[in-house]
Amino acid sequence: MISAHSINAYYGPSHILYDLSFSMGEKERVAIVGRNGAGKSTLLKSLMNAGPSVRGDIAFDGKPINRLPSYERARLGLQLVPEDRRIYHHLTVRENIKIAEHARPKGHVKSDPDAIIEQFPMLRTLKQRLGYQLSGGQQQVLAIARALAASPRIMLLDEPTEGVAPAIVEEMVTTLRTLCDQTGMGLLLCEQNLWFARQLTDRVVVMDTGRIVFDGSWAEFIANPEIKEKHLAI
Ligand SMILES: Nc1ncnc2c1ncn2[C@@H]1O[C@H](COP(=O)(O)OP(=O)(O)OP(=O)(O)O)[C@@H](O)[C@H]1O
Ligand SMILES: [Mg+2]
Repeated sequence: MISAHSINAYYGPSHILYDLSFSMGEKERVAIVGRNGAGKSTLLKSLMNAGPSVRGDIAFDGKPINRLPSYERARLGLQLVPEDRRIYHHLTVRENIKIAEHARPKGHVKSDPDAIIEQFPMLRTLKQRLGYQLSGGQQQVLAIARALAASPRIMLLDEPTEGVAPAIVEEMVTTLRTLCDQTGMGLLLCEQNLWFARQLTDRVVVMDTGRIVFDGSWAEFIANPEIKEKHLAI
């Protein structure tokens, strides 16, 4: 469904991704793991056209999207939940979700913010709470709920568990799994927490210094402990 062919990504003069090729199919759930600075977030942002300048070809449903700005990629069905979450601090939880509707793909019926909130047990009692009054974990869950309001075909989820309490992390697993199962949404997840990544995905991609160094099933990943030692150990 989305494929990047030999892309190079830059922040100004800094070359970050090197001739990287990656693709994932409809409904696929893929984890990207790698050390700090490996380029995981840069890959997500490159697919979304949200920051780095990118050379090389990116296609969605077989059509090139290289020239499309991020809001048009959103309308095709890509939604990025960035590391910094970008919650609107002076809007309520409900308003934060409602505002995301405009990004939904053409022809999709409007999503109902209350129906989305219902799927996230933690948000149910927080509907009228303002963004800045939420804890870090609550903001993360809201960021996921908001992305969902745009009815994505692939959610690009950047380190959702960072700084989030274990109970909330477990709730995220249940909620995200249910959502993917029910809607057929694909998931591309950057994650340091291997347990979490493994709960939610079937395939794991390891990145090191701007390149993909492993791409396979979790069983293959576990059967090759040297990959973890070489590319993930600090
Ligand atoms: N806005 C930016 N301007 C310049 N360099 C950047 C920018 N954002 C990231 N970088 C650099 O790009 C490289 C890859 O960063 P990236 O954020 O993609 O890594 P990451 O794998 O997501 O790391 P982490 O696990 O810490 O989130 C790093 O060397 C980082 O310093
Ligand atoms: Mg990152």
